[in-house]
Amino acid sequence: MTDRLTIRRPDDWHVHLRDGAMLEAVAGHTARQFARAIIMPNLTPPVTSAAAASAYRERIVAALPPGTAFTPLMTCYLTDDTDPDEIAAGHEAGVFTACKLYPAHATTNSAHGVTDIRRMTTVLDRLQRIGMPLLIHGEVTDRAIDIFDREAVFVDRVLTPLTRDHPALKIVLEHITTAEAAAFVAEADHPIAATITPQHLLINRNAIFDGGLRPHAYCLPVAKRETHRLAVRRAAVSGSPRFFLGTDSAPHVIGAKESGCGCAGIFNAPFALEAYARVFDEEGALDRLEGFASEHGARFYGLPLNEGTVTLVREAVVVPDRVGDVVPFLAGETLGWRMLG
Ligand code: DOR
Ligand code: ZN
Repeated sequence: MTDRLTIRRPDDWHVHLRDGAMLEAVAGHTARQFARAIIMPNLTPPVTSAAAASAYRERIVAALPPGTAFTPLMTCYLTDDTDPDEIAAGHEAGVFTACKLYPAHATTNSAHGVTDIRRMTTVLDRLQRIGMPLLIHGEVTDRAIDIFDREAVFVDRVLTPLTRDHPALKIVLEHITTAEAAAFVAEADHPIAATITPQHLLINRNAIFDGGLRPHAYCLPVAKRETHRLAVRRAAVSGSPRFFLGTDSAPHVIGAKESGCGCAGIFNAPFALEAYARVFDEEGALDRLEGFASEHGARFYGLPLNEGTVTLVREAVVVPDRVGDVVPFLAGETLGWRMLG
């Protein structure tokens, strides 16, 4: 049995670091485990210009513990009014790594998102031309569609025509939760990949209703039934370069979660790598963790692999009930792996 695992230093290809006091509280957790991270732009107001992204990047670096080597990779929040020249200039200047498409009202701070992707043709054409990745929150927002079906319907109604109409557009389907999304990404004749979170590998929708309403198990896309969790697990450990690590760590203070209308988001940053290690261990696939965590994402983005390593040891680690004002994912549970350092 492997009791000690050393892998190339990993990256987080999808994280919410927030701003202000929350940024100060959470940035170090992500930077401890990951060399780089794709930073989500859904602040209030959202990050829609290169100037705003540069300023946010500086605030992130300033929030890190002194001496931390961590590179935030910035994204541009797409709106109906996004100017393709602004994105292209920001990309060219090395500020924007990618663009993020939130369908309007799909999730937290997405009110300024895109109301109809068919209006975005000029922007999408430009992204395709300059080879800049489009990161997608893949859920339809039609309230007539059952919330558990919104990702599968998105794959059908939006992603399928999008890939057909923009055959060279680099796409990352973020935080996949369904067998349909996993199959689409695995099989598409298209430059497409997907990120996978720890929670969608470890919990199914029962966790949200386990003996009562469990707000800390609620995120978007919402966890699905067990068959989907198993399909997403198979994708993660398959070794396919199209699947890679993206925590979607999304902290909200306790009061915003434990509320009559609790926010969507799971804060998994403090023990993210340990949670993934548990999954790969359970699947007998520890030898594939490095590809998923440290190689596939960088290759898809066309970035160099990290130098340096991290080491995980098989050891009982109890996840605390609280990290600051936030309840972490798996609070109170024991994980079987610990990252050294
Ligand atoms: O659960 C989520 N929380 N899903 C998202 O897409 C956004 C995120 C947040 O910003 O809180
Ligand atoms: Zn997210």
